Amino acid sequence: MTRPGLNRRASAELAAQAWVEVSELLDLQLSPLGLWAIAALDPQPGETVVDVGCGAGQSVLQLAERVGSAGGVIGVDIAPRLLALASQRAAELGQARFVEADAQSVTLPDASADAVFSRFGVMAFADPVAAFANLRRILKPGGRLAFVCWRALAENELDLMPLQAAGLEAMADATPFSFADAAIVRATLEAAGFEAVTARAHDAPVSSGDADAMATVLLRVGPLGRILRETPALRATAEPRLRAALVARETDGAVALTAATWVVTGQRPPAS
Ligand SMILES: C[S@@+](CC[C@H](N)C(=O)[O-])C[C@H]1O[C@@H](n2cnc3c(N)ncnc32)[C@H](O)[C@@H]1O
Repeated sequence: MTRPGLNRRASAELAAQAWVEVSELLDLQLSPLGLWAIAALDPQPGETVVDVGCGAGQSVLQLAERVGSAGGVIGVDIAPRLLALASQRAAELGQARFVEADAQSVTLPDASADAVFSRFGVMAFADPVAAFANLRRILKPGGRLAFVCWRALAENELDLMPLQAAGLEAMADATPFSFADAAIVRATLEAAGFEAVTARAHDAPVSSGDADAMATVLLRVGPLGRILRETPALRATAEPRLRAALVARETDGAVALTAATWVVTGQRPPAS
Protein backbone atom coordinates (compact mmCIF):
# COMPACT_ATOMS: atom_id res chain seq x y z
CA MET A 1 0.00 0.00 0.00
CA THR A 2 3.07 2.19 -0.04
CA ARG A 3 2.61 5.14 -2.39
CA PRO A 4 4.33 4.50 -5.75
CA GLY A 5 7.81 6.03 -5.53
CA LEU A 6 7.85 5.86 -1.73
CA ASN A 7 10.43 3.22 -0.78
CA ARG A 8 10.63 1.32 2.50
CA ARG A 9 13.17 3.72 3.95
CA ALA A 10 11.19 6.85 3.04
CA SER A 11 8.08 5.22 4.49
CA ALA A 12 9.94 4.48 7.77
CA GLU A 13 11.22 8.07 7.93
CA LEU A 14 7.71 9.46 7.50
CA ALA A 15 6.53 7.14 10.27
CA ALA A 16 9.34 8.22 12.62
CA GLN A 17 8.58 11.89 11.96
CA ALA A 18 4.89 11.30 12.73
CA TRP A 19 5.70 9.37 15.95
CA VAL A 20 7.92 12.22 17.11
CA GLU A 21 5.20 14.81 16.37
CA VAL A 22 2.56 13.04 18.45
CA SER A 23 4.76 11.20 20.96
CA GLU A 24 3.22 12.71 24.08
CA LEU A 25 -0.38 12.09 23.03
CA LEU A 26 0.49 8.63 21.71
CA ASP A 27 2.22 7.72 24.98
CA LEU A 28 -1.08 8.35 26.78
CA GLN A 29 -2.60 5.52 24.74
CA LEU A 30 0.33 3.10 24.80
CA SER A 31 1.60 3.55 28.35
CA PRO A 32 -1.08 1.44 30.09
CA LEU A 33 -0.62 -1.32 27.49
CA GLY A 34 3.16 -1.30 27.93
CA LEU A 35 2.93 -1.26 31.72
CA TRP A 36 0.91 -4.47 31.56
CA ALA A 37 3.85 -6.13 29.73
CA ILE A 38 6.38 -4.57 32.13
CA ALA A 39 4.42 -6.17 34.98
CA ALA A 40 4.67 -9.53 33.18
CA LEU A 41 8.44 -9.04 32.79
CA ASP A 42 8.79 -8.04 36.45
CA PRO A 43 12.16 -6.24 36.16
CA GLN A 44 14.18 -6.26 39.37
CA PRO A 45 16.53 -3.63 40.83
CA GLY A 46 20.01 -4.07 39.39
CA GLU A 47 18.92 -5.96 36.26
CA THR A 48 19.89 -5.11 32.67
CA VAL A 49 16.93 -4.89 30.26
CA VAL A 50 16.99 -4.39 26.48
CA ASP A 51 14.00 -2.41 25.11
CA VAL A 52 13.56 -3.44 21.46
CA GLY A 53 12.11 -0.85 19.07
CA CYS A 54 12.09 1.61 21.96
CA GLY A 55 10.92 4.51 19.78
CA ALA A 56 10.61 7.81 21.65
CA GLY A 57 11.60 6.07 24.88
CA GLN A 58 8.71 6.22 27.33
CA SER A 59 9.08 2.52 28.18
CA VAL A 60 12.84 2.98 28.65
CA LEU A 61 12.04 5.53 31.37
CA GLN A 62 9.50 3.17 32.96
CA LEU A 63 11.96 0.25 32.91
CA ALA A 64 14.76 2.46 34.28
CA GLU A 65 12.57 3.27 37.26
CA ARG A 66 12.12 -0.46 37.92
CA VAL A 67 15.80 -1.49 37.60
CA GLY A 68 17.04 1.57 39.50
CA SER A 69 20.42 3.23 39.36
CA ALA A 70 22.24 -0.09 39.89
CA GLY A 71 20.59 -1.55 36.78
CA GLY A 72 20.66 -0.68 33.10
CA VAL A 73 18.22 -0.21 30.22
CA ILE A 74 19.43 -0.34 26.62
CA GLY A 75 16.99 1.10 24.08
CA VAL A 76 17.49 -0.33 20.59
CA ASP A 77 15.82 1.18 17.53
CA ILE A 78 16.48 1.63 13.82
CA ALA A 79 15.11 5.20 13.70
CA PRO A 80 17.67 7.90 14.58
CA ARG A 81 15.00 10.59 14.85
CA LEU A 82 13.17 8.65 17.57
CA LEU A 83 16.38 7.74 19.37
CA ALA A 84 17.32 11.43 19.50
CA LEU A 85 14.06 12.21 21.30
CA ALA A 86 14.43 9.17 23.58
CA SER A 87 18.00 10.15 24.54
CA GLN A 88 16.82 13.67 25.32
CA ARG A 89 14.04 12.35 27.55
CA ALA A 90 16.43 9.99 29.40
CA ALA A 91 19.30 12.48 29.67
CA GLU A 92 19.10 12.60 33.46
CA LEU A 93 19.16 8.82 33.86
CA GLY A 94 22.62 7.29 34.13
CA GLN A 95 21.19 3.77 33.74
CA ALA A 96 19.68 4.34 30.26
CA ARG A 97 21.56 4.19 26.98
CA PHE A 98 20.60 3.82 23.34
CA VAL A 99 21.86 1.85 20.35
CA GLU A 100 20.87 2.60 16.75
CA ALA A 101 20.56 -0.85 15.18
CA ASP A 102 18.23 -3.42 13.67
CA ALA A 103 17.20 -5.93 16.34
CA GLN A 104 18.09 -8.68 13.89
CA SER A 105 21.75 -7.73 13.79
CA VAL A 106 22.37 -5.61 16.91
CA THR A 107 25.77 -6.60 18.28
CA LEU A 108 25.17 -6.38 22.03
CA PRO A 109 27.36 -9.02 23.78
CA ASP A 110 26.28 -12.65 24.24
CA ALA A 111 24.48 -13.43 27.52
CA SER A 112 24.66 -9.80 28.69
CA ALA A 113 20.99 -9.02 29.52
CA ASP A 114 18.65 -10.31 32.21
CA ALA A 115 15.54 -9.45 30.20
CA VAL A 116 14.31 -8.30 26.80
CA PHE A 117 11.21 -6.11 26.54
CA SER A 118 9.26 -4.49 23.73
CA ARG A 119 6.19 -2.28 23.44
CA PHE A 120 4.92 -2.75 19.88
CA GLY A 121 8.48 -2.86 18.50
CA VAL A 122 8.71 -6.47 17.26
CA MET A 123 6.09 -6.76 14.50
CA ALA A 124 8.08 -5.37 11.55
CA PHE A 125 11.22 -7.54 11.57
CA ALA A 126 12.39 -8.61 8.09
CA ASP A 127 13.16 -12.10 9.47
CA PRO A 128 11.36 -12.57 12.81
CA VAL A 129 13.02 -15.89 13.70
CA ALA A 130 16.51 -14.46 13.04
CA ALA A 131 15.70 -11.33 15.03
CA PHE A 132 14.39 -13.25 18.04
CA ALA A 133 17.33 -15.68 17.83
CA ASN A 134 19.64 -12.66 18.08
CA LEU A 135 17.69 -11.36 21.11
CA ARG A 136 17.91 -14.82 22.69
CA ARG A 137 21.70 -14.74 22.15
CA ILE A 138 21.90 -11.45 24.09
CA LEU A 139 19.92 -12.87 27.02
CA LYS A 140 21.67 -14.69 29.84
CA PRO A 141 20.67 -18.38 30.16
CA GLY A 142 17.28 -18.33 31.90
CA GLY A 143 16.78 -14.68 30.87
CA ARG A 144 13.21 -13.41 30.36
CA LEU A 145 11.36 -11.99 27.38
CA ALA A 146 8.12 -10.00 27.54
CA PHE A 147 6.49 -7.88 24.88
CA VAL A 148 3.13 -6.44 23.92
CA CYS A 149 1.88 -6.66 20.33
CA TRP A 150 -1.44 -6.10 18.57
CA ARG A 151 -4.05 -8.78 18.06
CA ALA A 152 -6.09 -8.72 14.82
CA LEU A 153 -7.31 -5.48 13.24
CA ALA A 154 -10.90 -6.79 13.52
CA GLU A 155 -10.48 -6.91 17.33
CA ASN A 156 -8.79 -3.51 17.61
CA GLU A 157 -11.40 -0.79 17.74
CA LEU A 158 -8.57 1.71 18.19
CA ASP A 159 -7.47 1.07 14.60
CA LEU A 160 -10.63 -0.26 12.98
CA MET A 161 -12.99 2.56 13.96
CA PRO A 162 -10.84 5.32 12.36
CA LEU A 163 -10.35 3.25 9.18
CA GLN A 164 -14.07 2.56 8.92
CA ALA A 165 -14.99 6.18 9.65
CA ALA A 166 -12.68 7.27 6.84
CA GLY A 167 -13.90 4.50 4.50
CA LEU A 168 -10.31 3.26 4.06
CA GLU A 169 -10.39 -0.13 5.77
CA ALA A 170 -9.40 -1.92 2.54
CA MET A 171 -6.09 -0.03 2.41
CA ALA A 172 -4.86 -1.06 5.88
CA ASP A 173 -1.31 -2.38 6.11
CA ALA A 174 -1.00 -5.84 7.68
CA THR A 175 2.44 -5.30 9.30
CA PRO A 176 1.27 -4.11 12.75
CA PHE A 177 -0.88 -7.25 12.98
CA SER A 178 1.81 -9.76 11.94
CA PHE A 179 1.66 -11.40 15.39
CA ALA A 180 -2.13 -11.38 15.66
CA ASP A 181 -2.19 -15.19 15.57
CA ALA A 182 -0.84 -16.54 18.89
CA ALA A 183 0.18 -19.78 17.15
CA ILE A 184 2.52 -17.74 14.89
CA VAL A 185 3.97 -15.93 17.90
CA ARG A 186 4.63 -19.20 19.68
CA ALA A 187 6.11 -20.94 16.59
CA THR A 188 8.36 -17.93 15.88
CA LEU A 189 9.70 -17.75 19.42
CA GLU A 190 10.20 -21.49 19.72
CA ALA A 191 12.03 -21.58 16.37
CA ALA A 192 14.27 -18.83 17.76
CA GLY A 193 15.10 -20.95 20.82
CA PHE A 194 12.74 -19.58 23.48
CA GLU A 195 10.81 -21.82 25.85
CA ALA A 196 7.87 -21.44 28.24
CA VAL A 197 6.16 -19.14 25.71
CA THR A 198 2.80 -17.72 26.76
CA ALA A 199 0.47 -15.24 25.01
CA ARG A 200 -2.22 -13.70 27.21
CA ALA A 201 -4.96 -11.52 25.73
CA HIS A 202 -5.17 -8.06 27.24
CA ASP A 203 -7.94 -5.69 26.14
CA ALA A 204 -8.28 -2.15 27.45
CA PRO A 205 -9.90 1.15 26.49
CA VAL A 206 -7.20 3.71 25.69
CA SER A 207 -7.35 7.44 25.07
CA SER A 208 -5.27 10.50 24.26
CA GLY A 209 -8.02 12.77 25.61
CA ASP A 210 -10.86 14.50 23.76
CA ALA A 211 -11.93 14.04 20.14
CA ASP A 212 -9.43 16.65 18.97
CA ALA A 213 -6.51 14.96 20.74
CA MET A 214 -7.54 11.56 19.38
CA ALA A 215 -7.83 12.98 15.85
CA THR A 216 -4.34 14.49 16.14
CA VAL A 217 -2.93 11.02 16.83
CA LEU A 218 -5.12 8.89 14.58
CA LEU A 219 -4.61 11.11 11.51
CA ARG A 220 -0.82 10.67 11.80
CA VAL A 221 -0.05 7.20 13.21
CA GLY A 222 -1.63 3.76 13.31
CA PRO A 223 -3.10 2.17 10.19
CA LEU A 224 -5.16 5.22 9.14
CA GLY A 225 -2.24 7.54 9.87
CA ARG A 226 0.01 5.49 7.63
CA ILE A 227 -2.44 5.64 4.72
CA LEU A 228 -2.77 9.41 5.07
CA ARG A 229 1.00 9.96 5.43
CA GLU A 230 1.65 8.02 2.28
CA THR A 231 -1.35 9.21 0.25
CA PRO A 232 -1.97 12.74 1.58
CA ALA A 233 -4.67 13.48 -0.99
CA LEU A 234 -7.02 11.18 0.94
CA ARG A 235 -6.90 13.41 4.01
CA ALA A 236 -9.42 15.95 2.69
CA THR A 237 -12.25 13.41 2.85
CA ALA A 238 -10.91 11.24 5.68
CA GLU A 239 -10.36 13.97 8.27
CA PRO A 240 -13.90 15.38 8.54
CA ARG A 241 -15.36 11.87 8.64
CA LEU A 242 -12.98 10.80 11.41
CA ARG A 243 -13.57 13.98 13.43
CA ALA A 244 -17.35 13.51 13.23
CA ALA A 245 -17.08 9.88 14.35
CA LEU A 246 -14.82 10.83 17.27
CA VAL A 247 -17.07 13.69 18.42
CA ALA A 248 -19.98 11.21 18.41
CA ARG A 249 -17.96 8.96 20.74
CA GLU A 250 -16.88 11.68 23.17
CA THR A 251 -18.03 11.13 26.76
CA ASP A 252 -17.11 13.50 29.61
CA GLY A 253 -14.51 15.15 27.38
CA ALA A 254 -12.72 11.96 26.35
CA VAL A 255 -12.83 9.40 23.58
CA ALA A 256 -11.71 5.90 24.62
CA LEU A 257 -11.29 3.14 22.05
CA THR A 258 -10.55 -0.50 22.82
CA ALA A 259 -7.09 -1.88 22.16
CA ALA A 260 -6.68 -5.66 21.84
CA THR A 261 -3.20 -6.99 22.54
CA TRP A 262 -1.18 -10.06 23.36
CA VAL A 263 1.17 -9.87 26.30
CA VAL A 264 3.77 -12.44 25.34
CA THR A 265 6.36 -13.97 27.66
CA GLY A 266 9.11 -16.53 27.21
CA GLN A 267 12.60 -17.35 28.38
CA ARG A 268 15.99 -18.44 27.14
CA PRO A 269 16.38 -22.00 28.41
CA PRO A 270 18.54 -22.01 31.58
CA ALA A 271 21.01 -24.48 30.10
CA SER A 272 21.62 -23.10 26.64
C1 LIG B 1 5.07 1.17 16.79
S1 LIG B 1 6.65 1.85 17.14
C2 LIG B 1 6.73 1.61 18.90
C3 LIG B 1 7.73 2.51 19.55
C4 LIG B 1 7.82 2.43 21.08
N1 LIG B 1 8.19 1.10 21.53
C5 LIG B 1 6.52 2.88 21.73
O1 LIG B 1 5.78 2.03 22.24
O2 LIG B 1 6.25 4.08 21.73
C6 LIG B 1 7.75 0.59 16.52
C7 LIG B 1 9.21 0.91 16.74
O3 LIG B 1 10.01 -0.20 16.34
C8 LIG B 1 11.13 0.28 15.61
N2 LIG B 1 11.59 -0.81 14.75
C9 LIG B 1 10.96 -1.35 13.68
N3 LIG B 1 11.68 -2.35 13.15
C10 LIG B 1 12.79 -2.48 13.93
C11 LIG B 1 13.93 -3.34 13.89
N4 LIG B 1 14.05 -4.26 12.93
N5 LIG B 1 14.88 -3.18 14.82
C12 LIG B 1 14.78 -2.22 15.77
N6 LIG B 1 13.72 -1.37 15.86
C13 LIG B 1 12.74 -1.50 14.94
C14 LIG B 1 10.60 1.50 14.87
O4 LIG B 1 11.63 2.38 14.45
C15 LIG B 1 9.69 2.11 15.93
O5 LIG B 1 10.37 2.98 16.78
